[in-house]
Amino acid sequence: MSDPGAAPGADRSRRWYGRRHGRRLRPGRRGLLETLLPRLRIVLPPHGERLEAASLGAGAGRDLWLEVGFGAGEHLAAQARAHPDIAFIGCEPFVNGVAGLLAHIERDGLANVRIFDDDARRLLDALPDACLGRVFVLFPDPWPKKRHRHRRFIGPATLDGLARVMADGAELRVASDSMTYIVWTLDHVTRHRDFRWTARTRSDWTQRPADGFPTRYERKARTQGAACVYLRFVRRPRG
Ligand SMILES: C[S@@+](CC[C@H](N)C(=O)[O-])C[C@H]1O[C@@H](n2cnc3c(N)ncnc32)[C@H](O)[C@@H]1O
Repeated sequence: MSDPGAAPGADRSRRWYGRRHGRRLRPGRRGLLETLLPRLRIVLPPHGERLEAASLGAGAGRDLWLEVGFGAGEHLAAQARAHPDIAFIGCEPFVNGVAGLLAHIERDGLANVRIFDDDARRLLDALPDACLGRVFVLFPDPWPKKRHRHRRFIGPATLDGLARVMADGAELRVASDSMTYIVWTLDHVTRHRDFRWTARTRSDWTQRPADGFPTRYERKARTQGAACVYLRFVRRPRG
């Protein structure tokens, strides 16, 4: 079915369907958006050039991890606290979420986080090859209706992009309480030539990884009695 909001000829797989603004922000958070965000924001090069890993805080033995759709930022902040030697990029177009992450960064004095406050697919296009050691896509918008499935973040085009920017052996973690999304993800990722699902036993996908942290959506899902699934994939070596 066609998307009624799409401009004629628009690449609807690249449209943004989420929300950018929520409730009015408290003055403190608005202040963080004005003062701290400009210092941490990743700005894409103007003519489609690629970013340099060093400009993202990576390189010289320093790994780079990405979280797509960090929501209010609690998971990304916990990872950044736990791994001060790793550089992190968080992607989130929802302004209230970005303000939430900024509050964590300020409170915890985190010096290893950069923010791309826009669609992660735009960032993927600009990242250099093989620069990422880990990617988190946690509780992505499930878009449960069949006619909306092209809106899901995981899909053939995004997986090609992730395969390009992930290093050999890098890990892609996807978690969800939507079994439709989990089946969709397994179907797409296991069919992609560059990824391998790592699960060996049931607990590998029923339990959050030991080094993981709960997200806001995960807590909410569990409170409502929903089961959550945790998928871990490895980027196969090139060549
Ligand atoms: C259901 S929420 C989950 C938030 C958080 N990961 C959690 O588990 O609490 C999904 C988030 O992904 C963000 N998102 C959706 N598509 C995105 C994209 N293409 N790039 C970056 N963020 C995206 C949305 O703005 C939203 O905040």
